[in-house]
Amino acid sequence: MDIAIVTGASSGLGEKYAKLLDGEGLDELWLIARRRPQLEALAEKLQTPCRILPLDLTANASFTALQDTLTKQGKGLTVRYLLHAAGFGKMGPVTSIPPGILENMVDLNDRSAITLTQLLLPYCVPGSHFAFIASCAAFLPIPELAVYAASKAFLLRYCRALAAELAPQGILVSAVCPYWVRDTEFIKTASTTDQKHQFRHYLLAGTKESIARRSFKGIKKGRTVITPDAASTLLRFVSAWIPQDILLYCSRIFR
Ligand SMILES: NC(=O)c1ccc[n+]([C@@H]2O[C@H](COP(=O)([O-])OP(=O)(O)OC[C@H]3O[C@@H](n4cnc5c(N)ncnc54)[C@H](OP(=O)(O)O)[C@@H]3O)[C@@H](O)[C@H]2O)c1
Repeated sequence: MDIAIVTGASSGLGEKYAKLLDGEGLDELWLIARRRPQLEALAEKLQTPCRILPLDLTANASFTALQDTLTKQGKGLTVRYLLHAAGFGKMGPVTSIPPGILENMVDLNDRSAITLTQLLLPYCVPGSHFAFIASCAAFLPIPELAVYAASKAFLLRYCRALAAELAPQGILVSAVCPYWVRDTEFIKTASTTDQKHQFRHYLLAGTKESIARRSFKGIKKGRTVITPDAASTLLRFVSAWIPQDILLYCSRIFR
């Protein structure tokens, strides 16, 4: 049985990736997020049979449950795609964010990516794709998004190294690094701690439709780092050439 696993499928980019995977001729789509009703509503819209897995990817018990589900399928199971879109950010100075939230962010944005890789690799074959949704925040330090940007920098470095490790096995690894995406729940969730509204505008923000569609093309081609919009592509190259102190100074303009 050929499957794709989509995390963060209850909204935003994850939901869009599930819709794109619907056309890939897979036997099942496994949809992961915490909110079951949203996953069920999505499954009803898709042609491919779906398995609903309402899991909190910051809880160890969720990975045990996923491992049990994988084991029950046995050796006939092939993971063709992992689209790991679950993630969140919080705006504001580190000291202003209530205890536990930043640790939880690192657990979701980073730790879950490692655990999923180790759980799913035994079910992968040459041509399987792992895609981790990072962010162009990975390219530079960002005050008042400090932990989020650092967590995405970790994810980007991890993806690059993993891509090199798995290349001999023909397993393709991508880090998707978009700029702001205006029409997902991300900005609303991230703003709840931004008491002074430091990030006031989202100039050049993309839409989930275009970001998912463009990045999915790159994922299928096996590109390691994907910047699916003009702003993230510019930031990628600028951050490679301009010293970080200067970038930090300029970044104030974009708040
Ligand atoms: N939107 C942007 O501006 C932007 C820009 C660059 C990168 N990104 C990245 O893109 C990815 C997708 O974000 P999005 O924009 O689509 O935001 P979103 O609409 O808020 O989607 C986030 C998804 O993550 C899931 N999730 C959150 N906490 C979870 C947990 N503990 N366990 C399992 N699932 C969890 C949410 O579902 P439940 O609440 O149902 O669990 C939701 O489906 C994230 O990694 C984000 O960092 C977003």
